[in-house]
Amino acid sequence: MKFIFGRELNLGEIYDREKEINEIIRSFDTRQPLAVIGYRRMGKSSILNAAKSLLENNNVIVVKFNLEGILNLSDYSNRLINSLIDSISQKYKLKYYKEEIRRKLNMFIGSIEQIGLKFNNFEFTLKRYNDFLENRLKASEIIENIIDLPEKFAEDLNIKIMVMIDEFQYIRMLKEPFPYILRLMRSKFNEHKNVNYVISGSEMGILNEMLNSKNEPFYAFFKTIEIKSFSHGQSIDFLMAGLKTDGIKCNHEILEKIYNITSGIPAWLNLAGIDLINGKCDVNYFLKDATYKNIINFELNSLTKNEMTLMKLLSEDIPMKEIKLSNKYRVLKSLINKGLVFNINDKYELSDSLVKYYINNAYAGKK
Ligand SMILES: Nc1ncnc2c1ncn2[C@@H]1O[C@H](COP(=O)(O)OP(=O)(O)OP(=O)(O)O)[C@@H](O)[C@H]1O
Ligand SMILES: [Mg+2]
Repeated sequence: MKFIFGRELNLGEIYDREKEINEIIRSFDTRQPLAVIGYRRMGKSSILNAAKSLLENNNVIVVKFNLEGILNLSDYSNRLINSLIDSISQKYKLKYYKEEIRRKLNMFIGSIEQIGLKFNNFEFTLKRYNDFLENRLKASEIIENIIDLPEKFAEDLNIKIMVMIDEFQYIRMLKEPFPYILRLMRSKFNEHKNVNYVISGSEMGILNEMLNSKNEPFYAFFKTIEIKSFSHGQSIDFLMAGLKTDGIKCNHEILEKIYNITSGIPAWLNLAGIDLINGKCDVNYFLKDATYKNIINFELNSLTKNEMTLMKLLSEDIPMKEIKLSNKYRVLKSLINKGLVFNINDKYELSDSLVKYYINNAYAGKK
């Protein structure tokens, strides 16, 4: 087991998570819509990747795409269609290289016709989408077609497919132009007999509200699993295994210290592992690493002044009721929505203990 920091991992690179991966695979068999949620850097996308590979090994077509940063229906459609085309092309060994979506779409329609595959419903929708791209149809005229696309495709091929939508909470960006989109999606997802949907995301407050509020369209639609940090035992075992691959053994106190600071968040354990290797078990190599500081700084920079002030006060373990800040509960709600703070035993805690450490130490020093 090698430490890898940052990128999404694939099957064969990930530690444990067997239970979660199996649950995703099972959800395909039972067509149980599933929401895989968790705070940042817990390994959600890697778990989806692993489940995707295992399903593909069993000849299941998996269409996985990410909604992070989408602004409009074109963004949504392009990502879905790109991923659909890629999955089918992989299955039928059709090749496209970095084509712009419109060209890719036309080439794809051409080549499926050439190999004699009949995709009547799917092709109909793709042609309508092309009309939209060429301004002959409005977005509102194709939205239903787009949402139906995976089902149409599965019907054509007479197969069942799995659709995985990562960072699903960004779908809210489409609510302004299409206030009914979530309602439409739910009813379509519900109707689709040949597609199972797995969604994932890290903005925990927003997701919780989307999935668990009675007046929300997706209320009680998805079974939810939360991806948590590694337990104490797993974290120590993971660190020891990774260090051993490089022929290194650090003393137990060091590993405990890493666990205490990271509280077992997989991404940070990997970074700490790499630093322990480079720093020959000197924990300061990790504590001083600019990698995490830059990432955390970047994320904190997007907060408002009040949000940052509250993050700082909570990181010092000051109880909410003692905090003096205008609109403090509104600010708190916003931090909870973003998945930066959560409530535990009537106390509000930062969800990432390395962020807490950083704010309490490095960040405080900077100010
Ligand atoms: N099962 C695992 N075993 C080992 N390392 C892991 C595992 N899961 C995640 N990681 C570590 O965490 C990093 C982030 O993983 P991933 O991108 O899957 O998390 P995520 O929850 O999707 O993050 P984000 O919230 O930023 O989207 C990986 O690069 C790796 O360092
Ligand atoms: Mg992710």
